[in-house]
Amino acid sequence: MKKAQIRDMALLAGAVALVVFLLNAPEETTHRIPADDTHAPYYEMIRKDGKKAAEKHCEECHNAQGVPFPAGHPAKARCLLCHKIVDQ
Ligand code: HEC
Ligand code: HEC
Repeated sequence: MKKAQIRDMALLAGAVALVVFLLNAPEETTHRIPADDTHAPYYEMIRKDGKKAAEKHCEECHNAQGVPFPAGHPAKARCLLCHKIVDQ
């Protein structure tokens, strides 16, 4: 193989690796906050008072006694940094 061909293959492999990496990024795979009646008040709150005000309320339901977190759930301090609202 010529040097230029090897370089082209390396570039292609790099591009493929980048796409795979981006598709695996947490933001793309983490479940969004459902746009249902339960969560409607928090959508409203996010719009009016911002994310920090809204996410204070998440753990009123999302706790061990209520809606439990899946095993191995990451640090829960800032729900809305990971769980996005449904596009709007
Ligand atoms: C009044 C109780 C309540 C509050 C407060 C609440 N949730 Fe929920 N949440 C639920 C219930 C019940 C479910 C499961 C049924 C459903 O999808 O509505 C759920 C499901 C979810 C799911 C899983 C969606 C899926 O695809 O499986 C996410 C993510 C979520 N909530 C995030 C949040 C965040 C972030 C907040 C704070 C802004 C929040 N919730 C506040 C009750 C609540
Ligand atoms: C550092 C990122 C991060 C933060 C912060 C975070 N989560 Fe999660 N959460 C995840 C990941 C990753 C999963 C597993 C993938 C999935 O199912 O969305 C998950 C799963 C969940 C699920 C289950 C979704 C399902 O359908 O099984 C709920 C409910 C949930 N998180 C609620 C919350 C709440 C409420 C908070 C804030 C108290 C919070 N999360 C903070 C990353 C995060």
